[in-house]
Amino acid sequence: MKEYENYIENEIKKRKIKVLFVCLGNICRSPMAEFIFKDMINKKGLNDKFIVKSVATSYEEIGNDIHYGAKEKLTQKNIPFTKRKATIITAEDYNNYDFIIGMEESNIKNIKRIVGEDFDNKISKLLDYSDNPRDIADPWYTGNFEITYNDIVEGCNGLINYLIKL
Ligand code: 4NP
Repeated sequence: MKEYENYIENEIKKRKIKVLFVCLGNICRSPMAEFIFKDMINKKGLNDKFIVKSVATSYEEIGNDIHYGAKEKLTQKNIPFTKRKATIITAEDYNNYDFIIGMEESNIKNIKRIVGEDFDNKISKLLDYSDNPRDIADPWYTGNFEITYNDIVEGCNGLINYLIKL
């Protein structure tokens, strides 16, 4: 019976679109993207169609919660978020996710260093889905969470529009 339940669970998972947001530390941009994207799909009633997670490419912040500046910005914009612990991307994530989405060019290089070559074309940058593809600046360095928030919203809107058309 347990085996059958596992089989069903896997079948359900297979039919969901699995999105993994990736940044350097997993405390600023990728968790912001995770919660902003979750809020967007929730508002569209598409919650059960997706599995959404975010991870780091570095060990710097592993185990740490979202940066207070990111929390402040999400709160200000009424985006729900939960307490979490930063984790690092693994080679298995490449098989487990359909879309592996970095924030800037250096993330892409770091992702490939960990997961290997992108044979299935799963790796992209968030603003590739916008009309103006570019990197998303790291607010950990810039201190500007408003610009980062706006860029992530632009990318997530583009991503949803792209996915809806699939
Ligand atoms: P994030 O920002 O990649 O947007 O989460 C960073 C947070 C921490 C560090 C780098 C980037 N760090 O080196 O600790």
